[in-house]
Amino acid sequence: MDTLTIVKPDAFGSGRAGQIIAHLEAAGFLIVAARVKLLTRAEAEAFYSVHRERPFFGSLVDFMTSGPCMPLILRREEAVSELRRVIGATDPAEADEGTVRALYAESKERNAIHASDSPENAEIEIAFFFAGTERLQG
Ligand code: CMP
Repeated sequence: MDTLTIVKPDAFGSGRAGQIIAHLEAAGFLIVAARVKLLTRAEAEAFYSVHRERPFFGSLVDFMTSGPCMPLILRREEAVSELRRVIGATDPAEADEGTVRALYAESKERNAIHASDSPENAEIEIAFFFAGTERLQG
């Protein structure tokens, strides 16, 4: 099964993308596609459109367009639920010890990494960033 992750502009900009990706590989995820991308405002608004009415939406879009990010497609058994376990809670103050957000996130907004929340959303989010041909087959 595949899922989508994004190393966000806080972690990418401070040079911790490699450490985070190594953490994910050590947790059994195979990278099957990757890119570096500077999101436009329209792209960030579209990606997070489910949060459009939330008070933090404008600030979230500012953050996600503040520098390049790194979307990746990751593969392993139970990829969606396992990735969410490995990255920890949205708020680093609530993230379990040793999770990516406990180790690398600055705040609930600048939280280092995104992960799809369901298999259905994983396919939608994968299609948002990658054309079908870009994903390693198998
Ligand atoms: P992510 O898992 O990418 O999904 C939505 C993002 O919105 C979340 O990570 C955070 O970056 C951000 N976010 C969620 N809740 C809040 C909040 N209460 N305040 C600020 N940002 C938030």
